[in-house]
Amino acid sequence: MSIRRLPSDLINRIAAGEVVERPASALKELVENSLDAGARQVSVRLAAGGLDLIEVNDDGSGMAPQEMHLALERHATSKLPDDHIEDVLSFGFRGEALPSIASVARLTLDSRVGGQDGWRIEIDHGAKAGEGPAALPPGTRIRVEGLFDKVPARRKFLRSPRAEYGACLDAVRRLAMARPDVGFSLEHDGRRGLSVQPSDAPTRVAALLDRELVAHGLGIDCTRDGLRLTGVVSLPTFNRGMADHQFLFVNDRPVKDRLLVGSLRAAYRDLLARDRHPVAALFVHVPTSEVDINVHPAKTEVRFRDPAAVRGLLVGGLRAALDEAGHRSAAHVQAAAPVQWTSELTSHSRQGANPSPAFPPDTNGTGWAPAVAGVTEGRQMFHSVPAARAEPATAPVPAFPLGVARGQVAATYIVAEAEDGLVIVDQHAAHERLVLERMRAASSGGSVARQALLLPDVVEMDEPDCDRLEEAAPELAGLGLEIERFGPTAMLVRATPAPLGKTDVPGLLSDLAAELAEIGTALTLRDRLDHVAATIACHGSVRAGRILSVAEMNALLREMEVTPRSGQCNHGRPTWVKLAHGDIERLFGRK
Ligand SMILES: Nc1ncnc2c1ncn2[C@@H]1O[C@H](COP(=O)(O)OP(=O)(O)OP(=O)(O)O)[C@@H](O)[C@H]1O
Ligand SMILES: [Mg+2]
Repeated sequence: MSIRRLPSDLINRIAAGEVVERPASALKELVENSLDAGARQVSVRLAAGGLDLIEVNDDGSGMAPQEMHLALERHATSKLPDDHIEDVLSFGFRGEALPSIASVARLTLDSRVGGQDGWRIEIDHGAKAGEGPAALPPGTRIRVEGLFDKVPARRKFLRSPRAEYGACLDAVRRLAMARPDVGFSLEHDGRRGLSVQPSDAPTRVAALLDRELVAHGLGIDCTRDGLRLTGVVSLPTFNRGMADHQFLFVNDRPVKDRLLVGSLRAAYRDLLARDRHPVAALFVHVPTSEVDINVHPAKTEVRFRDPAAVRGLLVGGLRAALDEAGHRSAAHVQAAAPVQWTSELTSHSRQGANPSPAFPPDTNGTGWAPAVAGVTEGRQMFHSVPAARAEPATAPVPAFPLGVARGQVAATYIVAEAEDGLVIVDQHAAHERLVLERMRAASSGGSVARQALLLPDVVEMDEPDCDRLEEAAPELAGLGLEIERFGPTAMLVRATPAPLGKTDVPGLLSDLAAELAEIGTALTLRDRLDHVAATIACHGSVRAGRILSVAEMNALLREMEVTPRSGQCNHGRPTWVKLAHGDIERLFGRK
């Protein structure tokens, strides 16, 4: 074996493997350099997703010719004047990006310091290919062509130009959010992809995030232990199937940090189904001594000195904001999940005849079904029981946000009249939420009341499930569920949580065992309790299909109004929707 020092072009190519994974990572490095150079405007041009061309123009400080040579050398940087990485505020500091990119592409670097002449240096896959004077306004222009053309191993892993362009756009969007004071533009194959003027942070975020977030977002600004969190997150009802619209920043540096992503997820836990994700732009501000940014070549991950404090800031801050939003969550659900309203009768409701003075039956003997179904002339309008019941309207409507119950539809939905419109509540979803919040409130103030079973229930289960439940028995007792081991493969249930009412005990135990198996011991006791409480709550809810009395319906509405997070069920679906008077008028063409 003989050990040798690697030649510098090989070192650069190895470094490129870490820093330049795909066009978007090269682009990110170039734009960061422009920002570090004090640019006020950064303009990007791309061709074929950046594979054919990445060009970045800036009006920053520019470089003199001898600086340009240095910039293309490895480990040459202007950004660490005193060797203190800890205090670095610039995006770059490793002095690696330019030589790495230049080793896997053709790179043309044009630059000009104000008041001097411009200069150009060309590099072809790490080797100097030419230099000379160049005409350009003060600032820097870098062109990267044929990225990875000579690195087939890397090219193989690239996706379509469309997908690579998507990643480029995402990278620029993140940097544009980090620096609202700078103008950005992006053009792809001659078409404009993004263009923003210098502005303040909220305006910039609004310009780059989903437009609807203005109506469905919550502004965040909180401080805890000297750490600050600002930004905007979506209400739980405004969610996505992918976690791609989550923009996270630490000291204005875009990051994809696991701790932050996990904390965001935790803040929405039990407000969203597992496969749904909130939209967010969140800025964490911490003293530089509290965070190490030098843990990842592309600097997208960071290490916090006190991760628990950061997690507490995110989970606590977001949770408080979401709680405050309370039942508002579903108020604008229509735009996010359009409800289908139709003025046409379905074949279902056409089956019977119901002559009414206003709408006499036509010659075929079929007629219009009124909203309230019943039995007319001995013929039943619907196959089954009447699907809706109504209360005679009493005026005036008291000013309850969710209104007063007027009836129940399909034994599943409560219809209520509010001052400003018509409210429809999913009784199962709403009740499940209320039970969970009741259990939570009770368990934080001591323990949940229990309802002793007249005869203890014996539930047969697999041994590992019994082991899990036995281990969790003390936690479960705090939630009002009293169980003990009963031989190797059975559990004895002595009491169930009172807020549940009558419940399917074996079903509850088997769901709990599954939940415990899934969450394992990774979570804190508090988090485990929360998970378990959500599983229990699901068992206690008023199922769809139960007929409710008007008093029961009103009680449910009033409790929803005063319960935090009652706007969505434990899976993030809305518990109610409102059709405002104006919407109703529009449906009838009155507006
Ligand atoms: N657009 C630019 N305008 C002015 N100077 C630039 C520009 N791009 C690069 N430079 C100079 O070139 C040097 C090298 O850039 P390079 O990106 O390789 O390293 P870096 O930014 O210092 O560190 P990192 O590798 O972490 O990005 C920078 O330190 C800077 O002085
Ligand atoms: Mg750099």
